[in-house]
Amino acid sequence: MHLTTNIALATIGTLTAKVQAQTTDWTTAYSKATASLAQLSLQDKINIVTGVGWNDGPCVGNTAAVPSIDYPELCLQDSPLGVRYGTNVTAFTPGIQAASTWDIALIRQRGEYLGAEAKGCGVHVLLGPVAGPLGKNAQGGRGWEAFGPDPYLTGVAMEQTIAGMQGSGVQATAKHYILNEQELNRDTMSSRTDDRTMHELYLWPFADAVRAGVASVMCSYNQVNGTWACENDETLNQLLKTELGFKGYVMSDWDAQHTTVGAAVGGLDMTMPGSDFNGGTILWGPQLLTAVDSGQVSESRVDDMVTRILASWYYIGQDAPGYPVINLAAAVQDDHKDNVRAVARDGIVLLQNTGGILPLIAPKKLALVGSAAVVNPAGPNACTDRGCDTGTLGMGWGSGTANYPYLVAPYDALKTQAAADGTTLSLDSSDTTTNVTSTVSGADAAIVVITADSGEGYITVEGNAGDRNSLDPWHSGNALVQAVAAANNNTIVVVQSVGPVILETILALPGVKAVVWAGLGSQESGNALVDILYGSTSPSGKLPYTIAKAASDYPSTPVPGNDSYPEGLYIDYRHFDESNISPRYEYGFGLSYTSFTYSDITVTSNATSGPATGTIAPGGREDLFDTVATVTVTITNSGSVAGAEVAQLYVSLPNSAPASPPRQLRGFDKLSLAAGASGTAIFNLRQKDLSYWDVVSQNWIVPKGSFGISVGASSRDLRLNETITTS
Ligand SMILES: *[C@@H]1O[C@H](CO)[C@@H](O)[C@H](O)[C@H]1NC(C)=O
Ligand SMILES: *[C@@H]1O[C@H](CO)[C@@H](O)[C@H](O)[C@H]1NC(C)=O
Ligand SMILES: *[C@@H]1O[C@H](CO)[C@@H](O)[C@H](O)[C@H]1NC(C)=O
Ligand SMILES: *[C@@H]1O[C@H](CO)[C@@H](O)[C@H](O)[C@H]1NC(C)=O
Ligand SMILES: *[C@@H]1O[C@H](CO)[C@@H](O)[C@H](O)[C@H]1NC(C)=O
Ligand SMILES: *[C@@H]1O[C@H](CO)[C@@H](O)[C@H](O)[C@H]1NC(C)=O
Ligand SMILES: *[C@@H]1O[C@H](CO)[C@@H](O)[C@H](O)[C@H]1NC(C)=O
Repeated sequence: MHLTTNIALATIGTLTAKVQAQTTDWTTAYSKATASLAQLSLQDKINIVTGVGWNDGPCVGNTAAVPSIDYPELCLQDSPLGVRYGTNVTAFTPGIQAASTWDIALIRQRGEYLGAEAKGCGVHVLLGPVAGPLGKNAQGGRGWEAFGPDPYLTGVAMEQTIAGMQGSGVQATAKHYILNEQELNRDTMSSRTDDRTMHELYLWPFADAVRAGVASVMCSYNQVNGTWACENDETLNQLLKTELGFKGYVMSDWDAQHTTVGAAVGGLDMTMPGSDFNGGTILWGPQLLTAVDSGQVSESRVDDMVTRILASWYYIGQDAPGYPVINLAAAVQDDHKDNVRAVARDGIVLLQNTGGILPLIAPKKLALVGSAAVVNPAGPNACTDRGCDTGTLGMGWGSGTANYPYLVAPYDALKTQAAADGTTLSLDSSDTTTNVTSTVSGADAAIVVITADSGEGYITVEGNAGDRNSLDPWHSGNALVQAVAAANNNTIVVVQSVGPVILETILALPGVKAVVWAGLGSQESGNALVDILYGSTSPSGKLPYTIAKAASDYPSTPVPGNDSYPEGLYIDYRHFDESNISPRYEYGFGLSYTSFTYSDITVTSNATSGPATGTIAPGGREDLFDTVATVTVTITNSGSVAGAEVAQLYVSLPNSAPASPPRQLRGFDKLSLAAGASGTAIFNLRQKDLSYWDVVSQNWIVPKGSFGISVGASSRDLRLNETITTS
């Protein structure tokens, strides 16, 4: 179902990975689309670009069939982590957990399986992956759907996910484009950022998505610099279609279109769902026909929309006979839960492990505390679109979710382990401190599970309207941990969270010996946790964001009005580094049960200073993606158990570049090593990785001078330094 065919090799980011060739290429796809277009009436064309209306089809978005060219009723369906409303589908891990693994193979496989399940349900277009929000606001409600606030890691994850999904035969959708960083007022606000920040942060991962051949890009609800994102000539026609050479089509987020003519000339190609949510206002359909008849929109613009949509369908090979019929009840889970467990497990980040309290070895008596230790007593899918924080937390809430086919909570998995070990396991899942002392007293260790949740703004959970109101644990988590740690000196705190949480109160407690950042493990979260707690796998996740000492240390929060992005390039670790703020746990941090040494850095480079000169191909000027330098480092597992290390490469631009973040992630490589074994981490730097965006010449430029190249175990644990010099 998800087997590879036509394997070709391509360099992706720092790694050489298998890329499944598409059934065809864009040139062939465009020829087929052009030939089909010639057979269409204007009404056919309007039908292809206009959704059939809200709640008027089997999927969240649908367009009508055009039998004369064998074009089907197109099914567009949420979400980035599984087939929403599917009744026999896998609930994959959220994007942020995939990012937390830094494991290209697992991220790729997650994409392949997502695509396979969507196709199996007859879905043509799956609405993911997400690179917007990028995550500049730690409190932003939907950051967990994406891959964290570094554009390089996000770009690699986008490229791998899209290649996986589309290799399985489903069209991917890169969303939400662009500058959509908060839920508060997302339908009305205007965001703007300076041109350099736009290119180096927010547009960057979309460039990787386009390079991966993404079929569609979804424009977001907000305005960009005073113009709606779904009719924004600058972001759609100039940046996306011209500068990045995007061949696919732009679809609106649901009801994010505001005008008939403005959207058409502004670069929108497909409107979804085709009406507003009352089935009332329809901006294309008959309105677009009228606009063409009156000459306000040229028919050639409509032809371009249709060509892009049809070409994408051909590009993915969906014209081949036998595409599954639309059936959201199709049984498509296969063995995909293995990927969920692996991502849930390898995305867990061990933050603290005093005295080697972990891994646990057959404790006699174990206590487990917290409502998040068990499944919501009303059932794992009791809250529509996961819109509550009741029971164990495996994903945030909103349209970016899927039904759990089952949900293994920490208690379920620990019970099994305890039975095997002969451990007495006691549970208090009340979240109150009333009985905690008696539950945890005398236990060899006490595990307390706390949460922080967020989601999409159409649902408010415990007073949080999408974005989080604070970065504190929910349900008085600090007080719960305090009570546990007062009564048990071997307290292990497990955090299930959508993003950063301020941990200072918890870390100040002498009874807290370990902090396990479990993130969002979806349906397998309990099993993944036990894998780590008992050491069947050494933890290998690294933080895909910074955990600060105080919420005020972050450079931005969701704002009530418009957002001019005053922090510019300085988001997440770029800000902490620039402003010399000590984080509690820095970007890229994560402990292991073993230890790794770094040695023997080598650098080969033929990078030269100057602007990009290549022709535009999907993703941007072609030479930006040429490998211009290779860095290698020897990593040795110097501890006593097997483990995996994510080696990270950060680049510091030379002084001749305009003022820039002190260092920026530009490569990573995850190596699995037996105790005592060594391996070579390889980082291939592309020309773009050594460039900055020059606002005057409107081009990427490799500056002249000496680049700092630092390789290490996190953004602040830089073990080896070298330089690359350009003349
Ligand atoms: C925003 O729009 C104004 C007015 O059109 C323009 O002068 C300015 O350059 C734009 N800013 C950005 C960041 O695009
Ligand atoms: C937000 O920006 C829009 C578009 O530029 C403008 O019309 C509106 O007045 C601004 N709102 C605020 C609160 O500044
Ligand atoms: C899911 O599909 C499997 C395999 O066909 C079947 O055994 C199972 O009953 C289905 N589950 C549901 C909830 O429909
Ligand atoms: C505390 O324990 C008592 C006695 O077992 C029980 O009746 C009560 O419901 C418990 N309270 C909570 C909040 O769990
Ligand atoms: C925890 O350790 C401290 C310091 O050794 C000790 O004073 C305290 O009594 C211990 N608490 C418990 C519950 O054992
Ligand atoms: C430039 O160096 C890179 C990295 O060592 C290498 O892969 C590439 O082939 C070189 N290109 C040329 C034109 O020599
Ligand atoms: C490498 O450089 C960074 C500064 O960029 C510094 O913090 C670190 O200590 C250096 N590492 C070594 C091993 O010199």
